[in-house]
Amino acid sequence: MNPTLITNVGELTTNVDREGDPTGTLRDAAVLVEGPRIAWVGSAADAPTGIADTVDAGGRAVIPGFVDSHTHLVFGGDRADEFEARMTGTPYAAGGIRRTVAATRAASDEELRARLAGFVHELHAQGTTTFEVKTGYGLSVHDEARLARLAAEVTPEVTFLGAHVVPADHADRRAEYVDLVVGPMLEAVRPHARWIDVFCERGAFTPDESRRILAAGVAHGLLPRVHGNQLGHGEGVRLAVALGAASVDHCTYLDDADVAALAGAHTVATLLPGVEFSTRQPYPDARRLIDAGVTVALASDCNPGSSFTSSMPLMIALAVREMGMTPSEAVWAATAGGARALRRDDVGLIAPGARADLALLDAPTRVHLAYRPGVPLIAGVWKDGGRL
Ligand code: NIG
Ligand code: FE
Repeated sequence: MNPTLITNVGELTTNVDREGDPTGTLRDAAVLVEGPRIAWVGSAADAPTGIADTVDAGGRAVIPGFVDSHTHLVFGGDRADEFEARMTGTPYAAGGIRRTVAATRAASDEELRARLAGFVHELHAQGTTTFEVKTGYGLSVHDEARLARLAAEVTPEVTFLGAHVVPADHADRRAEYVDLVVGPMLEAVRPHARWIDVFCERGAFTPDESRRILAAGVAHGLLPRVHGNQLGHGEGVRLAVALGAASVDHCTYLDDADVAALAGAHTVATLLPGVEFSTRQPYPDARRLIDAGVTVALASDCNPGSSFTSSMPLMIALAVREMGMTPSEAVWAATAGGARALRRDDVGLIAPGARADLALLDAPTRVHLAYRPGVPLIAGVWKDGGRL
């Protein structure tokens, strides 16, 4: 691959802190890409010369590719009927997950692989260059291992979510199911996964069960993350902080003790506004978290139940319109914040040595991502130095 110079960038969001500006914004900038990495970043006027392969951004904005740190993309079927019912007042319930488990178990590897490939294409086209994928719609040793293996074909960020709900086949034997998750299921999924997650919520797993499951994962070398405080107040956030989890996701219902716990910890609060949009729940209060000093990430939670969208620009628009974030904070949270939630230092920023994962916007500034909701503003995407 020849080096490529992307020049005449009107607004470059580097996410390398410059004098207290976490977005590290440069005007009239250029980026040199060499192989899969960024080789140089600076003013267009100082850019290296003699690079044959040059892209003129025409004064438009460039941002790091989005880092979507929370998705559930390996599944069969959909649940449009549940969405339709919610829009006329039926509340979201975790039990719907079991319908997707049945459809996923019935799907072949080829069917799931083709669906996943479609989603990956959808993500890339919308500027997402790094994404996490969870298991959680298999819920048997065989199917969880199968989903983890398929997910690992498209991302290194695979999360074992055997503790999504207790499946129908174990309805009266939940203790047995937890034993299965921490025993043979963990053993079978472990070679394909980097993370372990638990849905710690009424109707899913109790704090004690969650603690046991996460501890078993950690003992097997997986890193913990938690689904917490989505449907009501609970112990998910504090459990995540106590375990040193990389992230606790949802954070819709937080009390002062939760915010204080997050403020004193390295655990990222990952907010998933597609869920509130699609379940008619109240949006999480991002402003309160940021003002308390908490690191906030935005992610899509793309799944067939609570949030069937893979659009990071939509998450940014919702975060700005409904959650008290500034456009700059929201773009940071969807890039650098996601990278923090995945404990990655090679993505979510534009700096020498980082992965050359970039999105060129058809706009003069990143503000347009919130200002022009629903408009396809991604004009070009580079992943690992290659233009997609
Ligand atoms: O993150 N909260 C648990 N899991 C998903 C929903 C899954 C589903 O409804 O199928 C979520 O919202
Ligand atoms: Fe989720």
